[in-house]
Amino acid sequence: MLPAVKDYRALARRRLSRFAFDYLDGGAEDGRTLDRNLAAYERLIFQPRIMRDVTTVDASVSLYGRRQSFPAIVGPTGLNGLYWPRAEEALAQAAHAAGLPFAMSTASTSLLEDVRASTDGDLWLQLYVQQDRRIAETMMQRAQALGFSTLMVTADTMVHGKRDHDVRNSFKMPLRITPKLLLDLATHPRWCARMLRQGGSPQLVNLAKSAGTQVNINLQAAAMSRQMDMALDWDAVAWLRDHWRGNVLVKGVLSVDDAVLAQRHGVSGIVLSNHGGRQLESAPSPLEILPAVIDAVGTGLDVFVDSGVRRGSDIAKARALGAKAVLLGRAPLYGLASTGPQGVRDVLQILRDEFEITLRLLGVPRADMLDANALSPDHRARLARL
Ligand SMILES: Cc1cc2nc3c(=O)[nH]c(=O)nc-3n(C[C@H](O)[C@H](O)[C@H](O)COP(=O)(O)O)c2cc1C
Repeated sequence: MLPAVKDYRALARRRLSRFAFDYLDGGAEDGRTLDRNLAAYERLIFQPRIMRDVTTVDASVSLYGRRQSFPAIVGPTGLNGLYWPRAEEALAQAAHAAGLPFAMSTASTSLLEDVRASTDGDLWLQLYVQQDRRIAETMMQRAQALGFSTLMVTADTMVHGKRDHDVRNSFKMPLRITPKLLLDLATHPRWCARMLRQGGSPQLVNLAKSAGTQVNINLQAAAMSRQMDMALDWDAVAWLRDHWRGNVLVKGVLSVDDAVLAQRHGVSGIVLSNHGGRQLESAPSPLEILPAVIDAVGTGLDVFVDSGVRRGSDIAKARALGAKAVLLGRAPLYGLASTGPQGVRDVLQILRDEFEITLRLLGVPRADMLDANALSPDHRARLARL
């Protein structure tokens, strides 16, 4: 096992083709949002307490009636088949072995049915809503029948953010074969061999199945961005509730006003997220708005946070500020892209170990006891100075 998530990132950079690594790792435009996400965690300082009994620590938390090993969810990411064959199955199995839920993307490259068959752990569905609402309805129906527990609708992706690296690498759907792409492939033969083993380019099979269309990555990806429902508004919550029996979360909230609106429309929770800095450039970091959101919604709404979590101590900071749990985006993917399923298991183990070490060093024996007392008294001012 490598020492830290950043070591898996470095290994992934060497092992993946250039366009695949940039797609995984990069942010929108000049990367200001991406940098801000990391800076927010860097800026927060703990206030540890000593002479407290931390012989045993309990990192577990309760979420929607289930106990999970630490406050994290393996978050939804699309096109995972670019990194390893049967990527979603690997992510789900590793999440469940680590005692965490796995959220599967609409843009996944395995079927919901295949992932369910590979594990009996807690599965969540991430939904992108397209103009033809029947596609989302069919996907919800399939997920419910398979016992997915939680629905998370992503509302920050009306269009894809401007990602310069994808343009530079000519990585856009439909994929154009350029000399640069051919060179990229030729210099990463092991990665090419893995892709060939899974039958070539990964496919958006889930979307194809719900849309009843041909399985063709180019058609699917083009259709997905063209046909996103840009008219989606808060009235959609009632529609989602009609089609989903369990918890409904809205992902992509970045303002106190939207958090309050989400609560008023009766969602179970929100994910404060800027999509890992991949969408709007110069967006706030979810961490910096977390305290004001918690002030506004109180305990009546579950508030999750993502974007920039790379360490167990980051998870402790988010939890201390009032988040129920964090979503992990890139971190498990770095593991997957470097050493496959074992890499995902390693990354989750590292994050859990770091979280437990942080609890002990803070003098907080239980994750449930983490609150703002574990942070420096000036933590709000520190975030405000970002
Ligand atoms: C490669 C990649 C693909 C993603 N695909 C999706 C997706 O299909 N649906 C979604 O809601 N979010 C998607 N996200 C955003 C993540 O769910 C999450 O919000 C973000 O990665 C968190 O930031 P982090 O990567 O810094 O942890 C994606 C992120 C990455 C890195």
